[in-house]
Amino acid sequence: MKLQKKGLLLLLNVILAACAREPLSPTCMLYEYEERLLERVLRNEIGLENTLKDIVKTHAKVEDALQQLEDGTVLIKSTLKAIEEKQTTMESTLHEFMENVMRHVNLTVNTSLSTLENNHEAMVVKSRSLVADVILELTENVTATIQRVENVQEALKAQSIIPTIYFRSRLAYSVNPSSGKDVIFPTVDVNEGHCYNPSTGKFNASVSGMYIFSVQYCCQAGQYSYMTIKHKGNTLQASSCYATNDYHCVTMQAPAKLAIGDQVSVQVGSQGFLLYDYQRYTSFSGTLSHL
Ligand SMILES: *[C@@H]1O[C@H](CO)[C@@H](O)[C@H](O)[C@H]1NC(C)=O
Ligand SMILES: *[C@@H]1O[C@H](CO)[C@@H](O)[C@H](O)[C@H]1NC(C)=O
Ligand SMILES: *[C@@H]1O[C@H](CO)[C@@H](O)[C@H](O)[C@H]1NC(C)=O
Ligand SMILES: *[C@@H]1O[C@H](CO)[C@@H](O)[C@H](O)[C@H]1NC(C)=O
Repeated sequence: MKLQKKGLLLLLNVILAACAREPLSPTCMLYEYEERLLERVLRNEIGLENTLKDIVKTHAKVEDALQQLEDGTVLIKSTLKAIEEKQTTMESTLHEFMENVMRHVNLTVNTSLSTLENNHEAMVVKSRSLVADVILELTENVTATIQRVENVQEALKAQSIIPTIYFRSRLAYSVNPSSGKDVIFPTVDVNEGHCYNPSTGKFNASVSGMYIFSVQYCCQAGQYSYMTIKHKGNTLQASSCYATNDYHCVTMQAPAKLAIGDQVSVQVGSQGFLLYDYQRYTSFSGTLSHL
């Protein structure tokens, strides 16, 4: 309706300018009648109001979603599927809509305007081209939006190729490291991406992203252990272990957002006796969760 109004408004201006010069001429009275006829035709008979509203609404929704994606507000793999669906809607439905609208508008404008007097041919041509201009502009906008959808889709595809970074390491024997020292887990079960260094005990991020780390450690009767997960000097997680008799195991988890080259390690607090036997692993593991 906005589009039709825009067309009508421009048309009205042309007529008003002409009638301001010759207000009482028969031509102006005829124009007034024709203007009302045209308005009525466009408003009631074309019946495109809802279709156009739908297009503009869908277009606006897609643009909003695109803006969020381009801003990086939402950048998860699942949005890839959503944007693919949106693109399909855009391409098939919206484009088809536009074609139909243009055909419909052309036909209706032709039909209604051909009923007008021949000597107002200039006005007929003018109004037809005004409608065509607006439709063309909307088509260009939709086409540009489809291009943006494709660009975002490409970017998302590129980002959804996440490398596998995943390690699991553990002690080979019980140790009693001194306070503030990194614990070295020499037995490496998995080290995909080679970010864990079994000679230093440090994990070193080779790509930036969200990681999840997990530690299990065990203590035996009468022994206290205080353990932390450290990232660049900050404590991500802290815990203690004490067994009154027999053995006890504690687990720690910590998510961390790491930049390339950031290091994460397990450190002993004030004291730490770390038990290792085949029934009780003292271990350090981690994985890249997403970029
Ligand atoms: C509608 O009319 C305009 C101007 O006359 C023309 O450029 C356009 O191709 C037409 N579109 C259709 C679908 O008939
Ligand atoms: C509308 O009228 C113009 C000029 O008479 C013509 O060229 C065009 O093919 C017509 N379009 C339709 C869709 O009837
Ligand atoms: C097309 O996009 C431009 C720029 O965003 C906007 O000003 C204009 O109103 C849009 N036209 C239509 C018909 O939606
Ligand atoms: C940590 O990883 C980064 C990126 O792969 C590398 O440039 C840097 O040398 C590594 N640091 C150590 C101490 O291995």
